Amino acid sequence: MNQLAQQRHIVLGITGGVAAYKAAYLTRLLVKEQVAVQVIMTQAACGFVTPATFQALSGRPVLTDLWDERIPNRMAHIESSRQADLILVAPASADFMAKVAAGLADDLLSTTVAARQCPLLLAPAMNREMWQNPANQRNVRQLEADGIALLGPASGEQACGEVGEGRLLEPEELLYQVLRQFHPQRLAGRKVLLTAGPTFEAIDPVRGITNSSSGKMGYALAQAAQEAGAEVVLISGPTALPAPRGCARIAVQSAAQMLAAVEEALPGTDLFFAVAAVADYTPSATSEHKLKKGHAPFQLTLTPTVDILAHVAAKPTPPFCIGFAAESQHLAEYAELKRRQKNIPLVVGNLVQRALGRDDSEVILFDAQGAHPLPPGPKTHLARQILAHVHALAFPPAP
Ligand code: CTP
Repeated sequence: MNQLAQQRHIVLGITGGVAAYKAAYLTRLLVKEQVAVQVIMTQAACGFVTPATFQALSGRPVLTDLWDERIPNRMAHIESSRQADLILVAPASADFMAKVAAGLADDLLSTTVAARQCPLLLAPAMNREMWQNPANQRNVRQLEADGIALLGPASGEQACGEVGEGRLLEPEELLYQVLRQFHPQRLAGRKVLLTAGPTFEAIDPVRGITNSSSGKMGYALAQAAQEAGAEVVLISGPTALPAPRGCARIAVQSAAQMLAAVEEALPGTDLFFAVAAVADYTPSATSEHKLKKGHAPFQLTLTPTVDILAHVAAKPTPPFCIGFAAESQHLAEYAELKRRQKNIPLVVGNLVQRALGRDDSEVILFDAQGAHPLPPGPKTHLARQILAHVHALAFPPAP
């Protein structure tokens, strides 16, 4: 189990609505995040999508029947609700919301919900008039008063052709909301500043010096810090990656721009992750116009850039600084050297052959206590483990 400290179990309830098709993709996303998904469908849901789809995607038999013979004690609702860390009903129809608001329990999903000991999230999906219907709005208020979280609905074009409030949230948004429930908010109230990606040092208007950093590790760390409740500022060189949800992203090109953006964002920062592959040299002059080719050898004069990490670490009251060392050889030696030279408490080292541009990586953490290898895995998983290590070092529990 790489991603979450322990495997999480969720009951995904599906009720009757055309948006039920989106629940299939949500199931896939949850499973990819290594969440165990027990799907429970109402009879009406089975009219829109088939249990076979969800069985294939979740890898578990789908439950639809209160009297399911496969459950030894014939109490599927108790079994399912006791195993769940969370119940999400998506889509939640107006009828199902009314049932929960009234405490009705007459099928497997409603009895599971009634018997729960875990949080319940409802993601409504219905026609805009149904959503606005006074009875439905009364139910919404009742559900909220009962401590049930409603996710959405979103506004926009509806399957019925009308436009308005009542759309099911997109599966990615639902996934994000579910994972938020599982991650300890250990960085709540903290500010995390990160640099990520390559820099681009212009030679002329069309050419420049850059490197093959994809930005994936920095973006994964930004996302993990955001999930952990931090205020996140991500200063990013040119990458093709979408901005991580809930993070303030400042796009820069050159090392000098990255330094200026870091300086501006630094006040109040608790943790500074220097993940960017910053150019060590920049052209001494940038040509205003495109350089023309010739036959003589061409010489480019380069000037060293400021080491942003060392510069921040040298401040009178620096944030807790985390450096990265991507090396092609002698990883331990170079990483430890960088840690001491830049005067920082932690360096995350990796071999470029195993990391550059890839979704997976293999990293070793170097701190005053020594080297701590992490099991290889997706960068998103590693990011959470790095963050847990950083948290323990930067904010040790009071003695
Ligand atoms: N770094 C930085 N500013 C620079 C250069 C590096 O903030 N101008 C940071 C990187 O973000 C990383 C760490 O310093 O956290 C190490 O970067 P790396 O490129 O691996 O090493 P360098 O210090 O540049 O040394 P070398 O290129 O000789 O390996």
